[in-house]
Amino acid sequence: MNYPLVTKIIETKNENNRIKTIKFENNKKITPGQFYMIWIPGVDEIPMSVSYIDKNIIGITFKKIGEATNALFNLKKGDKIGARGPYGTGFKLNGKKILFVGGGTGVAMLAPVIEEAIKKKLNLKVIIGAKTKNELFFEKRIKETGAELFISTDDGTYGTKGFTTDIAEDIIKKNHFDLILTCGPELMMKKLMDISKDIDFQASLERFMKCGFGICGQCCIGDGIRVCTEGPIFNEKTLKKIQDFGIFKRDASGKKIKF
Ligand SMILES: Cc1cc2nc3c(=O)[nH]c(=O)nc-3n(C[C@H](O)[C@H](O)[C@H](O)COP(=O)(O)OP(=O)(O)OC[C@H]3O[C@@H](n4cnc5c(N)ncnc54)[C@H](O)[C@@H]3O)c2cc1C
Ligand code: FES
Repeated sequence: MNYPLVTKIIETKNENNRIKTIKFENNKKITPGQFYMIWIPGVDEIPMSVSYIDKNIIGITFKKIGEATNALFNLKKGDKIGARGPYGTGFKLNGKKILFVGGGTGVAMLAPVIEEAIKKKLNLKVIIGAKTKNELFFEKRIKETGAELFISTDDGTYGTKGFTTDIAEDIIKKNHFDLILTCGPELMMKKLMDISKDIDFQASLERFMKCGFGICGQCCIGDGIRVCTEGPIFNEKTLKKIQDFGIFKRDASGKKIKF
């Protein structure tokens, strides 16, 4: 599990100009929310959540931002990558009425847990958001599940103008939820946790990762909680104890970076 399995890309799909899905074979059991360390030969190894879970095929969906994701974006069907994992904790669908809130690339890893919730016949509402219309993705995929979908863009080019948290605040006032699941910018997730008050809450955190399986300490938050092993999914009880949540993360050298 801690050595990369070298595998061929069997399918790619451009979700928009900057977001792409890559699929490869997998024979391991995966819980939505878990991630792989993806090795791009000659470039880097980076963490990526699983965005598609099929019988023996999985997918990752990512935005090109730097060297590794640009190189990954340029790969084609038949090219080789390495995949170590799956690592970390998954979402727990504890409840019947669930609100899903995804912002930016966070929508990618929420999609498989939305599909699982639909299979379990749970009652769900989904909010997805992006800065602008061209950056949205997975709208069709989520609509096809039958989930009630709300969309926001910061600039109002599609859906409701504003943030996912604006829609969430309104929906939470008018409905009862047992659970809120979220992935996206940390400031969005922090605000959502504040809005959610007594509702059970699970959020997926991103921190700089090197080993991905708990030995290097690079991804530690709070009092030594390893995001790669104890997370990346955390519930509100743990999040409320983590002083870093919504305040700062650390870069590769350990230097604090404010959100
Ligand atoms: C558990 C987890 C799951 C993730 N899932 C996804 C996903 O599904 N889709 C997606 O688009 N992105 C995901 N990311 C973020 C992704 O790993 C980074 O965007 C990527 O590593 C950037 O690398 P780069 O070389 O292209 O960019 P760089 O220019 O090197 O970095 C840009 C930013 O990306 C982050 N980053 C860089 N390297 C790492 C690293 N080794 N570990 C963590 N963060 C890093 C840092 O914040 C950095 O400032 C995930 C991150 C984590 C921790
Ligand atoms: S990345 Fe090494 S302990 Fe988490």
